[in-house]
Amino acid sequence: MNTPLCEISLTVNGEPVRAQVAARRSLVDFLREDLGLTGSHIGCEQGFCGACTMRVDGQIVRGCLMLAVQCEGAQVETIEGVSDSGEIADLQDAFERRNALQCGYCTPGMLLSAAQLLGRGGVPSRQAIREHLAGNYCRCTGYHAIIDAIEATARARAGEEK
Ligand code: FES
Ligand code: FES
Repeated sequence: MNTPLCEISLTVNGEPVRAQVAARRSLVDFLREDLGLTGSHIGCEQGFCGACTMRVDGQIVRGCLMLAVQCEGAQVETIEGVSDSGEIADLQDAFERRNALQCGYCTPGMLLSAAQLLGRGGVPSRQAIREHLAGNYCRCTGYHAIIDAIEATARARAGEEK
C-alpha cells in the first residue's frame, strides 16, 4: 500500500520550501534526504543523543522526534543556516582553537545547544554549561574542551578575557 503524502510549506534557513512528505517522515530525515541538508546528524533516533538538534521557530528541538508535517508554516534552522549567517562564528572559532571536536559527529548539535545557552547572555558556570549539554552526547572529546570553548565564548561576548 502506498504511503499517503502530505503537502507542507515551511521556511528552511530563510528559504521557502514546499514539499510532499509521508505523514510519518521525521523532520531530520526530510531535511537530510529530501533537502540535502546533512549537517544535522542522526544517532539514536530516540531523542537522547542530541545529534539531530535544530531550531524550529527559534526553539531547540530534536529533529528525530518531530515529524516534517508538524512544521507546516514553521521557520526551521539547521546548522547550515546558523553557520552561514555568522551568528556562531565566534563559537565555531573557539571549538576549533580548543580542539572541542574530533570526529565532529556531535558538533552541529553541540553548537546549536551552546548557542541557545549563550543567547541567554552572561557567563554561565561550567556546571551550568554541563547541565545544559546533558542531552548532547560526545563519544570522543571527554567534554572538557567543549566546556572550555563555550565558557571562553561567553567570556569574550561579555567583554571578559579569561
Ligand atoms: S538522533 Fe535525535 S536525539 Fe539522537
Ligand atoms: S567529536 Fe566525536 S562524538 Fe563528539
